This record gives sequence, structure tokens and C-alpha cells, in this order.
Amino acid sequence: MKAVIALEHGKLAVRDVTLDAPRAGEVLVRMAAAGVCQSDLSVLNGTVPMPLPMVLGHEGSGVVQQLGPGVSGLEVGDHVVLSFIPTCGDCHFCVHHEPHLCIAGSPAGLMPDGTSRVRLDGREIGAMAMLGCMAEQVVVPAMSVQKIDRAIPLDRAALVGCGVMTGVGAVTTTTCVKPGSTVAVFGCGGVGLSVIQGARLVGARRIIAIDMLDTKLDYARHFGATHTVRADGDVVAAVRDLCGGWGADYCFEVTGKPVVMDQAYNASRRGGTVCMIGLGHYTESFALNACGFPSDGRTVVGCMYGNANFRVDMPNLLDLYLARRLDLDAMITRTYTIDEAPQAFDDLVGGLNARGVIVL
Ligand SMILES: NC(=O)c1ccc[n+]([C@@H]2O[C@H](COP(=O)([O-])OP(=O)(O)OC[C@H]3O[C@@H](n4cnc5c(N)ncnc54)[C@H](O)[C@@H]3O)[C@@H](O)[C@H]2O)c1
Ligand SMILES: [Zn+2]
Ligand SMILES: [Zn+2]
Repeated sequence: MKAVIALEHGKLAVRDVTLDAPRAGEVLVRMAAAGVCQSDLSVLNGTVPMPLPMVLGHEGSGVVQQLGPGVSGLEVGDHVVLSFIPTCGDCHFCVHHEPHLCIAGSPAGLMPDGTSRVRLDGREIGAMAMLGCMAEQVVVPAMSVQKIDRAIPLDRAALVGCGVMTGVGAVTTTTCVKPGSTVAVFGCGGVGLSVIQGARLVGARRIIAIDMLDTKLDYARHFGATHTVRADGDVVAAVRDLCGGWGADYCFEVTGKPVVMDQAYNASRRGGTVCMIGLGHYTESFALNACGFPSDGRTVVGCMYGNANFRVDMPNLLDLYLARRLDLDAMITRTYTIDEAPQAFDDLVGGLNARGVIVL
């Protein structure tokens, strides 16, 4: 079967791999769709360090084909979404109601027993987030699999496996944005557009979208932005002006660039909240002024996966989709075959899509 593989930094290929049968606690899923998230690109280009070669893809959906021993709560034929963070239920974070920080995942992309089910040229290789879902089939831990309503088209459903969950959750759960607030969103890709949708859902009064590209600002307006700012001028001044001169109640950084993290901080009001979602290069940092930070009383919060409890939040988001309150249809601006995966990555770099999706 075919899989999209980061062979080495900057080298992407669609290659034939073999897949071992599911072992205890594992599930074989025939993939239907995999979203192309900037985090996939970050593994490919080394922004986020992971051992290569690795099968890419961490935002996907499919149909259960086979269950390993001891798997309960799933049946062959179930429609499922894969979660890029598992919920083991046992680790410190799971038992302290922070399953989005569950440590049962594997940066090397190996299964919990330390081995892999995927072989390239006979050699075991990792699968991103224990999923590697840019592949025709995957074997994944059952603790990463959520059964969903069959009424939901699988390509739409895939998006809640990372981007939509992270963006909406950043608003509803990480920062608990209050109705009537002012919100500024820096970066309008798949995740930033989902922040905008979340801000609309919770009744933000003013939603300011910032991006370098006019097409992204058009998408932003569609998803609920009330104001847009082209990121080529004084972005901080523009956002402050739109928020009574003080700055926004909540700023969301969704590009992964330290310079934009600075902008998001400075465009927030005194006492406001700055939520960092974008993943920068692992060698980079951003600075907080030792005197100004405490004096201005802002809250800076890191956001992983929108603080999701995916067992609860995936079905909830998909219900909002069925109720036409969350727009997943317009999120998918282009689909690709697996052989077109290199084009899908080029288009991500070019900023062409709200979300590009590989249909398997
Ligand atoms: N924390 C998490 O749980 C989590 C989950 C998913 C993705 N991410 C990260 O979120 C970030 C966004 O992911 P995505 O898939 O939406 O990416 P994307 O490439 O689809 O979107 C990024 C957007 O930022 C815009 N941009 C680039 N430079 C800019 C600038 N200087 N000012 C304003 N806008 C600018 C681009 O035009 C693009 O529209 C990535 O860093 C990704 O790794 C984090
Ligand atoms: Zn992602
Ligand atoms: Zn856990």
C-alpha cells in the first residue's frame, strides 16, 4: 500500500510500504481522508524534530477494518476519526483532567510497545503521532480512535482530528473567550480559521483576522471575521485602533513565527490574554519583558490541541457541524489523491487552501 513519507529533511515521497497486523489494543483502519496541516510540513522540514523516515499525517478519518485482541467499544465497519494525541486514561495528565497532555504518545512515532507496524524496504519506520494517516491503511492504538456518526462525510470529519479541534478549543476551552470580547487572530490557515469559527460560536463582538494573503482574509470573512488586516504594515497599531486604542481582549498566534508572537503580545490589551498555538522552530524563543510583563498583567497561555478531551469534544464539534453551526464544508478548498501529496504540500507553503485534504 502507498504512504506519504518524509524520507529526510525536505525530501517527501509517496512510497509503497507494508503494514503488520494489529496487535493487542490496536486497530487497523482503512483511511478515507487526511488533512494537510502545517505540523506535517514542520516534521518534513525539521522545525519540529522527529526521527526520519516517518509516515506523515496526523489529522485523519477512516473505517475500522480489523481489531487486535482486547479492543472494546469499536467494531469492524465503524466510521472513526483519529486523534493526534491519545487518551491513555492512566497517566498523570489523563487522571488530572488534562488528556490533551497525555504522555502515551511517541515523538518517534512508535507504538506503545516501542515497535512500529509500518515497514519501508523491510525496515520499521515511525508513523507521525502514532497515526501516519497519509496512507491507504494504518494500524493505530485504540486509545487514539474515536467512533463517529455515519451521517458525517469522512473528509469533513477528518478535520476535527487536529486543526478544527485545536482552533475552536483554543477559544472555548484554553482561553474561555467571553461573549462580547474582542479577538485578534494572527494567521488564517486551517487552524486560525478554526479560531475564527470558535470566536463566532462563543459570540465575540469583534473578530480581527490578520494574514499576509488576501485569499486568506477572504476565507476569514467567510468564517466570521468582522475586520481584516493585511500583515504588511504596522499590524499592532491596526489591531489596537480597532479595539479602542487598548488592544484586543484575546490574541491568538497561529503562524509559529516568533516575530508574530511578539505582535500578538503587543496587540493584546493590558490584562488581556495571548494564546500561542503556532509551533515555531525548536531552537527559537520569544521574549517577555521582565518589568513590563508583570506590570501589564497579561496572561500568556500555550495551547496544545485546544485543551481537548477528544472523547467528548469530537462528537460535540461534529454535532455542531450537523446543526450547521460549524462550517467544515468550506474548510476544504481542495482535495488531492495520494500521488498528488507533493502538490498538496507545495500548496500549503503557497497558502492556497483553507485546508487541503488528501482523499484516500
Ligand atoms: N498547538 C497545537 O496543538 C497545534 C495544532 C495544529 C497546528 N499547530 C500549528 O499551528 C500553526 C498553523 O497551522 P496551520 O495548519 O493553520 O498552518 P497554515 O500554513 O495553513 O496557516 C498559516 C497561516 O499563517 C499566515 N502567515 C504567515 N506569516 C504570517 C505573518 N507574518 N503574519 C500573519 N500571517 C502570517 C499564512 O499566510 C497562513 O495563512 C502551525 O505552526 C502548526 O504547526 C499547532
Ligand atoms: Zn495538525
Ligand atoms: Zn494519558
